[in-house]
Amino acid sequence: MKIGIAADHGGFELKKNIQEFLEKQGLEVKDFGAYVMDKNDDYPDFIIPLAKAIVANEVDRGIAICGSGVGASIAANKVLGVRAALINDHFSAHQGVEDDNMNLICLGGRVLGFAVAQEYITAFLQVEFTGAERHLRRLQKVKELEIK
Ligand code: RB5
Repeated sequence: MKIGIAADHGGFELKKNIQEFLEKQGLEVKDFGAYVMDKNDDYPDFIIPLAKAIVANEVDRGIAICGSGVGASIAANKVLGVRAALINDHFSAHQGVEDDNMNLICLGGRVLGFAVAQEYITAFLQVEFTGAERHLRRLQKVKELEIK
């Protein structure tokens, strides 16, 4: 599994920690920046390229981090084909994939400690979409809202 990761200044330190955490497990990580800490940078400049890479199948799943995770999730969900959510609990980290086929997890670098974020990411990466008919039906209703 190839994982894309992106963060603004609010998520910069957590991104570094998560990248190391994933690489230690032998996972392939593509970093979409920020590459330097710049307190004036803007989260869409990093989150949108990551979101587009998910849709283009350049990466299998994404991790987007800003200060709260809110801006990252708003921005990412503008990209058709992305199913992003701000996660602040373990249950949603896996159920979001199992039921809702979440392909991008959004986290708050100013909200979560490193260990908690690592647990959410582990839960996110360990599961697959069930493909159950009821979930497909619900996702189809969401997809119909996507204006090309
Ligand atoms: C940037 O200071 C902060 O607003 C941003 O990282 C994020 O929290 C937005 O949702």
